[in-house]
Amino acid sequence: MTDTARPAAPADQVWDADRYDRQFGYVSSLAKGVVDLLDPAPGEHVLDLGCGTGELAAEIAARGARVTGTDSDPAMVAAAARRLGTEVLLADGHDFRLDGPVDAVFSNAALHWMTRPQEVVRSVHRALRPGGRFVAELGGARNVAGIIGAVRAALAEHGLDGGMRMPWYFPSPAEYAALLEANGFLVARTEYFARPTELSDCPRGVADWVAMFGSTLIDHVPADLLPAVLDRVNELAAPTLHRDGRWYADYRRLRFVAVAEERTP
Ligand SMILES: C[S@@+](CC[C@H](N)C(=O)[O-])C[C@H]1O[C@@H](n2cnc3c(N)ncnc32)[C@H](O)[C@@H]1O
Repeated sequence: MTDTARPAAPADQVWDADRYDRQFGYVSSLAKGVVDLLDPAPGEHVLDLGCGTGELAAEIAARGARVTGTDSDPAMVAAAARRLGTEVLLADGHDFRLDGPVDAVFSNAALHWMTRPQEVVRSVHRALRPGGRFVAELGGARNVAGIIGAVRAALAEHGLDGGMRMPWYFPSPAEYAALLEANGFLVARTEYFARPTELSDCPRGVADWVAMFGSTLIDHVPADLLPAVLDRVNELAAPTLHRDGRWYADYRRLRFVAVAEERTP
């Protein structure tokens, strides 16, 4: 982790699947390029790790692959099962086992929620056939640093910044490539780029983003103080994240393609 705040247990984040689709559909729509990187072939079996409401899993299925969705959140699993019309596995990405190996593991915007990455990478390797692909996008180093800084500063004004719990793992490309290589993958490609993303369906701007994704940053704030803290987050974020009447999240994304090498004795 690149931030010094206390790490949160993954179970602390509760997902609102309907709100996720309504306000944050950009998470999957901006990741169609990751599906292009995966380049699913008809008949291949692909596991979507942290599939959320299943929009990208549906896109992969539309390209002819057989997709198994998996997610650790029951509401997301139910939403994805409705969208895909198939069973979706409720499982923790840190430790999951499949009945048989898959041709590829795909993941978008989910790996950074899994804060013990070595366990995840080992589970993915175990799930793949030799030569199988691991293709993903996650938040990279300094992802949403402007948002986190505004939350920290707003909390500090009330002496509450010590209670922030960081739920994310945002690695640098070098760090993640080393992790993959140490756990049986050949890293074929990495990309790391800034992607300022308009929060077009968030009328309360960065405050809406924090309420959806950053609940562990603010769940210790007394309820009567929370609206003022979130207003202050917007004020502090505005100079860098509000332009021409539009709010932006300062995303930095890490994409990679890695290939599972034969297990050596
Ligand atoms: C931002 S959403 C992304 C969903 C989907 N991949 C997309 O592109 O829309 C992150 C997802 O990761 C899932 N997730 C978080 N921690 C997880 C874990 N330990 N194991 C499996 N899924 C996890 C969440 O439940 C959530 O559905």
